[in-house]
Amino acid sequence: MPEQQPATVLEKERLHRFVAAYFKDRERYLSLLKNHGSPLWVLDPSVLKDRARRFSEAFNACFDKTSYYFAMKSNNRPEVSAALLESGFGLDVSSGIELKTALNLKAEKIIFSGPGKTQEELSLALQHRDRVTLLLDSFGELDRLSALVSGSDQTSPVRVGIRLTTNPKGLWRKFGIVPEMLPEFWKRIAPLTHIRFAGLQFHSSWNLTPERQVEFIRLLGQTLARMPRDFNSRIEFIDIGGGYWPEEGEWLHFPETPEGASPQETSIPWDRVRPHYRIPGTPIESFAKEISLAVQTHIFPHVNCCICFEPGRWICHSAMHLLLSVIDKKNHDLVITDAGTNVIGWERFETDYFPVLNLSRPGLVERPCHILGSLCTPHDVFGYAYFGEGMETGDCLMIPCQGAYTYSLGQNFIKGLPGFVKL
Ligand SMILES: Cc1ncc(COP(=O)(O)O)c(C=O)c1O
Repeated sequence: MPEQQPATVLEKERLHRFVAAYFKDRERYLSLLKNHGSPLWVLDPSVLKDRARRFSEAFNACFDKTSYYFAMKSNNRPEVSAALLESGFGLDVSSGIELKTALNLKAEKIIFSGPGKTQEELSLALQHRDRVTLLLDSFGELDRLSALVSGSDQTSPVRVGIRLTTNPKGLWRKFGIVPEMLPEFWKRIAPLTHIRFAGLQFHSSWNLTPERQVEFIRLLGQTLARMPRDFNSRIEFIDIGGGYWPEEGEWLHFPETPEGASPQETSIPWDRVRPHYRIPGTPIESFAKEISLAVQTHIFPHVNCCICFEPGRWICHSAMHLLLSVIDKKNHDLVITDAGTNVIGWERFETDYFPVLNLSRPGLVERPCHILGSLCTPHDVFGYAYFGEGMETGDCLMIPCQGAYTYSLGQNFIKGLPGFVKL
């Protein structure tokens, strides 16, 4: 397992560049709030398209045959998937609900991945086998699919891949089968005429560097070297999943609490804004170079196939922003907003640092203030500081770059969900 890179203090210049870029468009965001009400999600499809272009250009420069699937779970707003379909991406879905959205959007290339697919979900995928590749998660799922296919009156075979688990220990082992079981899986699937085996998939999450993906590609190469020739010759694709962290890196309140851990410290010093921390990321072009080198070295000697990608976060995180307003100023350093963190569905801002911008009183000085939502829980935190020249009731706030794993997780908990507008 690669070492987690240490967090270092987030440089002031980097932070100011980020904040200034969004303050520049403040009039636009303020008028959206005026016209559509607060709180509000704002989607910028041009950002999605730029990200999709840069991502695919990076990998197309390194591989002859590629295919891209947007991971809908990272943001399930249909307009997001629609923009990515326009960019030539397919869709990666993980449930019947997501599959229905993809079908309604007329996606032609859909992969359906995930553990525990229900009979209804498998049946829906089978009905649309001309557009869906099913990524099988287990022997049991193969048996259930096989029973469903033999009971169906369609004659064309369903295209499937096999998901491989990247980590046989702990909770990640719930995904896929371990590579050592591939020979047995092949024995079971090869004779089935209505199920056409066409590829392999793996996914590892939350990668600030390509090390974890590269290491699994090396292991996969060793597995393929031992597999029979007729198995390898059937492989049309190897899908290396998503999990690319944006190159800005992971921004944190506390250096010691990456990956969603709870901070030890619950109070903050009020005489100053604490330093923020950053675990560095990697440009996508470097991911592409290192991954392609690994694939050339370990995979292509055994299998020459299309390489597929399922990015979610990298594509959508900077394309959607949250706008909200101060509903009550309770102290010079305590305000309550009109949204609660139910809008993003988890206590993200207790550990992750995202700057809060006061669009109504812009300024590049960050000032300490508890910016809390209106839910009946003290964990309803948007931030411990804001950028601006003061903070008053009625002020409009922005938290940029909330496009990934926020909108999809929003809950109708105590308060309702924000409005939505597409630029
Ligand atoms: C199978 C699979 N593919 C792709 C993704 C997308 O990952 P990310 O948004 O980190 O790129 C996920 C996320 O959980 C996943 O489970």
